[in-house]
This record gives sequence, C-alpha cells and structure tokens, in this order.
Amino acid sequence: MKFVCAPMATLSHEAFRILIENFGGCDEYFTEMINAPSLLNRGPFEKFYLLNGPAPEKIVWQLTGSETKPLAEAACIVCEKGGIGVDLNMGCSAPQIYKTGAGISWMLKPLEETKKTVRAVKDSLNLMEQKMNRHFRLSVKCRLGDENFTEAGFLSFTDMLVENGVELITLHPRTIKEKYRGLPRYEFVHKISQRYKDVAQVYLNGCIKDFESESYALQKCPGADGVMIARAAAEKPWIFRQIQKNHEHSAEEISVDRMKTALDFIDYVEKFQPKEFHKTRIQRFFSYYCKQFEFGHYFQTGMTNYKSNDESRKTVIDYFSRQPHEQFLTI
Ligand SMILES: Cc1cc2nc3c(=O)[nH]c(=O)nc-3n(C[C@H](O)[C@H](O)[C@H](O)COP(=O)(O)O)c2cc1C
Repeated sequence: MKFVCAPMATLSHEAFRILIENFGGCDEYFTEMINAPSLLNRGPFEKFYLLNGPAPEKIVWQLTGSETKPLAEAACIVCEKGGIGVDLNMGCSAPQIYKTGAGISWMLKPLEETKKTVRAVKDSLNLMEQKMNRHFRLSVKCRLGDENFTEAGFLSFTDMLVENGVELITLHPRTIKEKYRGLPRYEFVHKISQRYKDVAQVYLNGCIKDFESESYALQKCPGADGVMIARAAAEKPWIFRQIQKNHEHSAEEISVDRMKTALDFIDYVEKFQPKEFHKTRIQRFFSYYCKQFEFGHYFQTGMTNYKSNDESRKTVIDYFSRQPHEQFLTI
C-alpha cells in the first residue's frame, strides 16, 4: 500500500514536501500541476515548478494542458529532472482549467483525441527511457466524468488509458459538479482496481482525513494500490506518519509542535519559492492548516491579511501565546 501526497496547485511544492518529510514523509509526492505550454516558454517562474527536493526519487510530475504537442514535449523536460514519472491531469474540474480544454475536459473529448495525447506522452516517456536508461511511469489522475457519465463510458475511458500505456490511474470518484459534495463513490475505485489487477495500478483519492476514513475507504476498495491525500495533508502534514503508525499498531507517541510547524513552513516558502509567490502560498497553506484550531477562523484571518512574512510569523506566535494548550499535539 502506497501513501501518496496529492497534486495541489499552489501547495504541492518543495516547501510543503519538506514539512511532510520532517514527519517521516510518504511514498510519492505529486507536484502541483505544471502548465505544459508555460513550461515550454521557460517563463521566469518555471524553474520553481521544477524543484524536486527534498526527495527527488519520490517525485511524480503532474502536467496540465489542452493540446498534445506541449504535453509530449513538457514530459521530456520534467523527466530530465528524474522522479518516478509523469502524471496527466485529466480530473481538474476548476472552470478556469477545464473550460480551456485541459483537466477533466480530456474525459469529455472524443476518445480518439485523448488517446492520441496519451500515446504521444507515452512515446516521449519511452524516448526518455532509452536516453536515460531507466523507466518513467505514465499515470493519469481523473474523476468519474460529467453529470451524465455512465459506467460503460467511464470504463471505456479507463480501458483506453490502460491500452495506451498508462500504468497507474488515480481516481477521485466524483463528477465535475460534485466537487467535494457527498461521499466519493469508492466502489468505482474498487471496480477498476479489479479490472486492471495485473496490468495497472489504481490509487484511491477523496476525503481521507485520518486512519478511520482511510480504513472505511479501503473496506470499499480493498484492491487499491495506494491512497492519495490532498486537503488533510495541508491541515495535518503529519497525517501520513499518523496513519502509518496505526497500520503498524505502534504505541510510539509523537509530539507535534504545531507552532514550530507553522513557522517552519513560512521559512521554507521564503527559501524555496520566488518572493512573488510568498503571499499566495502562505495564505493557501494556512487556509487549511488553521482549520484544526479552536479559533481557526480568527487565526486564518490574520494569516490572510498580513503585510510581510515577519508579520505572518508574529500572527503565528501571537496565536499560540493566547492558546498555549494548542501548541503541542500527541499523535
Ligand atoms: C488547493 C487544491 C489544489 C488542487 N490542485 C490540483 C492539481 O493541481 N491537480 C490535480 O489533479 N488535482 C488538484 N486538486 C485536487 C486534489 O488533488 C484531490 O483530488 C482532491 O482535493 C480530493 O482529495 P482530498 O479529499 O484528499 O482533498 C487540488 C485540490 C486542492 C484542495
């Protein structure tokens, strides 16, 4: 069973990965989605999207785009940096993404068109495999489709993926409009994990927030090869360690310093992100991290309205000086 940190735009960057590694890490880190045409244009910020620390061997490069050629070319660029392989974003349901023909719109285009793109990226990975004398995995992250999806239509999409060289599918089993509403339909993860048992891996994703929710999901799809976590990893960067500990029936008690974790994150953002990104990255992380605290809303407002990184540090220190009993957590 693999434990996997999800791709999250503005969140799944090196600073965030270091935070998770500090608690023992996970098996794979998907990068935030990297826009293929922007990467090819080599804009001033693209080098930051190519950072692969602190565990380069665990990186999965997630690419997004609406056309075949940039995706195929971008796949070669990211593979130069190593990592496990390339993931195609075919699940993002944010309107600004799918309305441009990227993200989940790949599930809605004619199958032949998506197949051509998958094939072209697979060809790039084969090329890189020859060049670098090592394998690069091709994976796809998707949802169920739009509101009119049918099981047969969904399975013909996933069959097409597997027939064209996709070795791993991560399924967030909801439709476009469901976004985060209702429980994910884990039974679809189970269905495809059985269908591709010996030919491809399947990771489950959606609403895993602790050991109990993970156990519930795995009961519904015992054949899943991995569990991918997004929002809960930002809320509790120690979640992988916590779940692992439960799997091992370990009695070890780990003390988490939640003030230090918050301050460390700000330090890492300063170190590994361009200054133009500091504010948005800090705001995004704390919009999840603050949720766990008694006065989380108040804390988060402070982390949204600050004027400098030092002021954000002061907000963190002030919060824990008022709420000292919230600083340490035993997991
Ligand atoms: C802030 C944020 C950014 C996200 N960005 C991406 C992304 O870049 N690529 C992607 O495939 N999914 C993205 N997602 C979706 C997550 O990877 C995941 O599929 C979804 O949040 C469900 O998992 P969860 O219930 O563990 O949060 C994003 C989610 C969040 C909350």
